[in-house]
Amino acid sequence: MTDLTTTYLGMTLAHPVMPSASPLTGDLDTLHRLVEAGAPAVVLPSLFEEQIEHEAMAVHFGLEFGAEAFAEAPAGYFPELDDYNTGPDQYLDLVRAAKRELPVPVIASLNGTTKGGWTLYARILADAGIDALELNIYVVAADPELSADDVERQYLELVEEVRAAIDIPLAVKIGPYFSSLPHMARRLVDAGADGLVLFNRFYQPDIDLQALDVIPDLVLSTPADLRLPLRWTAILYGRVDCSLAASGGVHTAEEAVKMVLVGADVTTMAAALLQNGPDHLRTVRDGLAAWFDENGYASIEQAKGSLSQQAVPDPAAYARANYMRTLTSYHSEAGL
Ligand SMILES: Cc1cc2nc3c(=O)[nH]c(=O)nc-3n(C[C@H](O)[C@H](O)[C@H](O)COP(=O)(O)O)c2cc1C
Repeated sequence: MTDLTTTYLGMTLAHPVMPSASPLTGDLDTLHRLVEAGAPAVVLPSLFEEQIEHEAMAVHFGLEFGAEAFAEAPAGYFPELDDYNTGPDQYLDLVRAAKRELPVPVIASLNGTTKGGWTLYARILADAGIDALELNIYVVAADPELSADDVERQYLELVEEVRAAIDIPLAVKIGPYFSSLPHMARRLVDAGADGLVLFNRFYQPDIDLQALDVIPDLVLSTPADLRLPLRWTAILYGRVDCSLAASGGVHTAEEAVKMVLVGADVTTMAAALLQNGPDHLRTVRDGLAAWFDENGYASIEQAKGSLSQQAVPDPAAYARANYMRTLTSYHSEAGL
């Protein structure tokens, strides 16, 4: 039997098939179902910078308004901060309940783009007992005044600030769109990241031709989406001194196996679990276990990275040399 244990962010996990942040992990009952299906750890959905700032503004405004307009208002007229049912408060309730009730590590997630007061929530979450924090940096760099260096500095300062606030392991979830991803990955590690989650999905808005408006449209991943994190995990493996988590396109055991072979410490799933339910995690874990068993691997650690760029006989297969071969090997299905 293959030893399926894996190390991620310094934690020993029973196996590498983990649920990533999604609405499924935002509900305590579903979290229990995921753990029953074998989840070795869970990543809660993100608490968003906007959520924190919005609530902070609302509370601030409420208290200010009370003080000015109702100077004589009796104490307790406005709710105390403590029992204000804000987004962050609900999130903390979820964190505390998950920590109390689940027998596996709980990773909370913060999503933001700017430095500032909201990063204090990293410490609040750490104080609530989470085992690790995932910082999801979702920047759409749309300002022509900002150079690539400006944007990258924004990432690094954010990571440094959060790193300084907490002592627990910190993973950083990034998108793939950097001119030099390996260089940026190293800088993120230097700034304090213990792990990288590859990748954020940048949801693309669509146009509603009837309403002539821009509409948000969340399209779930398919296994074809695996190729992007697959390539970059393969390239980064052994080149950055941190854990690697793969996110995007893992739907079946086959994709999970591939991600481990190219170097992922954990392979995560959101879409597949949303589509098939929490029990699907067990199916993928069992399929992964069977594959490594049948192919004679003693352990996941032995398999990890064995098809990374540094390990394969033709490293160029992950880089440009493959480009021409890929294009010229195409055969039109219409016989053209
Ligand atoms: C409905 C939905 C909600 C999500 N919410 C979050 C979130 O709160 N924070 C986060 O970091 N990622 C979130 N994600 C992204 C997933 O964690 C994951 O990175 C992405 O879906 C790619 O993985 P997949 O192909 O397994 O779905 C969400 C994805 C979906 C589909």
